[in-house]
Amino acid sequence: MNVKQAEKRVTELRNLINKHNYQYYVLDDPVVPDAEYDRLMSELVQLEEEYPELIASDSPTQRVGAKPLSEFKEIKHTVPMLSLGNAFNEEEMQAFNKRISEKLGTDEVIYSAETKLDGLAVSIIYKEGKLFVAATRGDGNVGEDITLNVRTIQSVPLVLLGNDMPEYLEVRGEVFMTHKGFEVLNKKQKEKEEKLFANPRNAAAGSLRQLDARLTAERPLSFYAYGVGEYKGKVKLQKHIQTLDLLKKWGLPVAPETSEVNGLNACFDYYKRIGERRNHLAYEIDGVVFKVNDLDQQQELGFVSRAPRWAIAYKFPPVEEITQLLDIEIQVGRTGALTPVARLAPVKVAGVTITNATLHNLDEIKRKDVRIGDWVYIRRAGDVIPEVVRVIKEKRGKVIKFEMPSECPVCGSDVERIDGEAVYRCMGGLSCSAQNIQSIIHFASRKAMNIDGLGEKLIIQLIESNLVNNVADLYQLKHEQLAELDRMGTKSAENILQALNKSRSTTFERFIYALGIREVGEATARSLARHFKALEKLQYAQAEELETISDIGPIVAHNIYSFFQQKHNLEIIQRLLDAKITWDDIDVDDLSNEYAGMSFVLTGSLQSMSREEAKQKLLNLGAKVSGSVSRNTSYLVYGENPGSKFDKASALNIPTITEDAFLEMIGESK
Ligand code: IVH
Repeated sequence: MNVKQAEKRVTELRNLINKHNYQYYVLDDPVVPDAEYDRLMSELVQLEEEYPELIASDSPTQRVGAKPLSEFKEIKHTVPMLSLGNAFNEEEMQAFNKRISEKLGTDEVIYSAETKLDGLAVSIIYKEGKLFVAATRGDGNVGEDITLNVRTIQSVPLVLLGNDMPEYLEVRGEVFMTHKGFEVLNKKQKEKEEKLFANPRNAAAGSLRQLDARLTAERPLSFYAYGVGEYKGKVKLQKHIQTLDLLKKWGLPVAPETSEVNGLNACFDYYKRIGERRNHLAYEIDGVVFKVNDLDQQQELGFVSRAPRWAIAYKFPPVEEITQLLDIEIQVGRTGALTPVARLAPVKVAGVTITNATLHNLDEIKRKDVRIGDWVYIRRAGDVIPEVVRVIKEKRGKVIKFEMPSECPVCGSDVERIDGEAVYRCMGGLSCSAQNIQSIIHFASRKAMNIDGLGEKLIIQLIESNLVNNVADLYQLKHEQLAELDRMGTKSAENILQALNKSRSTTFERFIYALGIREVGEATARSLARHFKALEKLQYAQAEELETISDIGPIVAHNIYSFFQQKHNLEIIQRLLDAKITWDDIDVDDLSNEYAGMSFVLTGSLQSMSREEAKQKLLNLGAKVSGSVSRNTSYLVYGENPGSKFDKASALNIPTITEDAFLEMIGESK
């Protein structure tokens, strides 16, 4: 290849890569698998290495610069970056809408409705379609030059796409971190024993303002545009939504939840709808924003002090609340782990009354210096268990320091802490009723033996009435014994027996998982089943052989080995086999049967693979993959920014699962 040919190919590759970025970040519809994208990128890197004269600053290979800065330069905003007025309730929204309708003399104002992203405002200037400068908001008039940092954000185009390219375009938008990105980052921080970030906003702020942009490049930052500052171009901007559509055409990502609404009631509907979806969005929001859609009307309305009259942020009630911590109790889990749980004076957090919150373990309690009687901040994020965020030290009165008990509060056995582990454990094993109950619940659970109808309440009753002591006893239950229990009856007893009967034919991996060996989750159980194929082989396996299986390290190998050394466990297994628990021998075809007849729909952008790869995996497992949700859909797998498919699945009561849950389901979780 000569330089001429190389130049041609380099241009071609850059265009292709930019187009794929656009498909991925703006349209949320990647057209090539990640591997193909990576291939194009490495071809470009190679050509640029071979012909350094072809390197250009707007090449997709040139996002990350080499040298750290000694300070950020100042940037003056030619159009000030303003903030927004707030509304906290319907009355304030009503007042806002009234002011506007009166001033404009219209009954029904048309608004652009947007999510209020919780990140940092930035301004990005494109000259002749090329990224020129990016700045923070600063005090609204003067910000800091963070061009090198913003260039590293994958979803920010280095060159604009399409036609009617503006001569000069100042894009305003928010840099933020998705929940997923935040989790991944904190996990890495933890591994490196570096400071953890308190929330996605702090993480985004800390990542963006780095003098060494190579550090920013390692952080999972995202960007959505929500407006325009200074602008010189052929197309006349008349409406806000039209402006956002243009930005999208030029390759800038805009939050997919953005829509046009007419009048106050439609604003309320939007607020409610987004509020309901808030926990399922890929990113954190603290409210919604309404902007008068017509730009002439915006001008007419003008500004008050630092905020425009034509826009408002309608905030959600906070997800963090203050309450008093009344007591710290201990919960004993299936493996004996003691988890401290905060009992709280009831408090409403984002519409849900909270009375308990997890404190994780003793190290956490010490780190946060939480004491009984303290006033604390409680946070509820999405569907996760509420947690104690921090103590309000200034409010501290009479408090009691918490201590881990030296005896199990349930069975009185010794409590020990294994070196290097954060958890304290009850050493009582299955003689501890708490561990016993939890292990039976685990055995019966959906992913284990899947004994329909056998839940916690019934299990406790069975244990208390001495009908069941361990999992093997379940299969000895008689109809009359079950029918006599509280809230049971002939029919329910019949159903339980049927469910037990049905669970007798299972799979090897479910059986292994159901045994509840410490740290053997579904994926490990699956690996064990595939490796050993027969129970006798697994039972007699030495730790060395176990360690040869991928994902099994010395600790898990030891847990498995010692589980099968316990006489008690072997007796229970024998009794289960005597009770005719069976599974078919494993062969590879079998593995695909599990998914035969199931139909999956994929939506949103996945993090660890493209949708195409996910589809291939499902097809290999024997499942069907469909483009649209219907009553026949078995699962909807959703990534970031799921769209209407998610809503449709929810409306049809079809299970929706995250990418992580999906990976776990197919045995590929990390
Ligand atoms: S418009 C004059 N739109 O909220 C209009 N801001 O409180 C100013 N924000 O500094 C901004 N999502 O960082 C706008 N859809 C959205 C937004 C948004 C988040 C942030 C932005 C701004 C702050 C104002």
